[in-house]
Amino acid sequence: MQLFNVYPLFDIEPIKGKGSFVFTENNTAYLDFYTGHAVVSIGHSHPHYVKKLSQQVQQLGFYSNSVQNNLQEQLAKKLGEISELKDYQLFLCNSGAEAVENALKIASHLTGKTKVIAFEKAFHGRTAAAINITDMKKFKPAINTGYPVEFHALNQIQSVKESLEKGDTCAIIIEGIQGIAGIHVPNNLFLKELSSLSKKYNVPLILDEIQSGFGRSGKFFAFQYSNIKPDIITMAKGMGNGFPVGGVLFKNHIKPAFGLAGTTFGGNHLACTASLAVLEVLENEKLIKNAEQLGAYLKSQLTKLPNLVEVRGRGLMIGLEFDFPIKTLRAHLLYHQKVFTGSSSHPNTLRILPPLSITKKEADLFIQKLKLGLAFITEKSKAKKSMISQ
Ligand SMILES: Cc1ncc(COP(=O)(O)O)c(C=O)c1O
Repeated sequence: MQLFNVYPLFDIEPIKGKGSFVFTENNTAYLDFYTGHAVVSIGHSHPHYVKKLSQQVQQLGFYSNSVQNNLQEQLAKKLGEISELKDYQLFLCNSGAEAVENALKIASHLTGKTKVIAFEKAFHGRTAAAINITDMKKFKPAINTGYPVEFHALNQIQSVKESLEKGDTCAIIIEGIQGIAGIHVPNNLFLKELSSLSKKYNVPLILDEIQSGFGRSGKFFAFQYSNIKPDIITMAKGMGNGFPVGGVLFKNHIKPAFGLAGTTFGGNHLACTASLAVLEVLENEKLIKNAEQLGAYLKSQLTKLPNLVEVRGRGLMIGLEFDFPIKTLRAHLLYHQKVFTGSSSHPNTLRILPPLSITKKEADLFIQKLKLGLAFITEKSKAKKSMISQ
């Protein structure tokens, strides 16, 4: 049997990981400043995480959501404490898209309406309702384009207000920080205005924190920079440090009912253990503070680089927009400088998403490697120009 070939692959196979590095079979170390799409939040093979998951799998790996599972209660309690969002309820699922799907479904249940207000270049996952609210056409087959959706410009409130006045909206959904679009931060005032409009028109506000949440931004959730309290919050990625786990937080005014949502695997024993271990490490090692401080340090150094148009982001979710397409730079960084970075839907923007546990030394190593990569690009373009002029 062959694999259904949907991923363009780099010719590289990491077989083990430790902290901020992954290693190939011949023990070549790669600095991981991408963490497999912002997933490995506390670092590869963290000893506490390994211990907790190993113990749990020996004890009980899985039982369904038809029996008591105290690990879910423990996770909800810890999450409420660390995020300082005790007035929310937790629904556990398996991925980001599934979290968004459930968030939209419950919003539609609550309002009895169907239109979603989303934002240009947003990405919320690939299941039916989630992919429908992305304006990147290449991801959307005909079957997933049926639901009413409007795309508005980020940080511009007027058109959102006019749309809400029509009275047909079931949800407003926005990323805490736009990730795949190339790291665009909704400003605090805009989020505050969205929040007050959502209250005025009784339309749930959904904050998609799947990429920006779990400490990555330097706060537990990126929207917390604006002091709002959304009705619904989605999360995944860094939540399990690689173990597939997603979740939705519903504010207490949203009442559950049996059968309103459900999943076979969501909230299983291993998933809860993985996520609890992540929270314990975030707390014990003060990794959210680390993300804030090292993010600020990285940004202060990165702004000095040549060929930069802009450095965007918060904490350790950073976008570097250059004045040239980054495809060759990114390949050079991987194959020659041995460092993983991310791309985005913007061809000139590099995404930087390291573990929240990076050290200053690792941040400096990254900057050094990036400088070498940029020097390579400059040499290459000089050589090209001189060939053309000959
Ligand atoms: C903001 C955001 N929402 C949702 C998703 C979908 O998550 P998943 O791939 O786990 O379904 C992603 C994935 O990149 C994302 O970045």
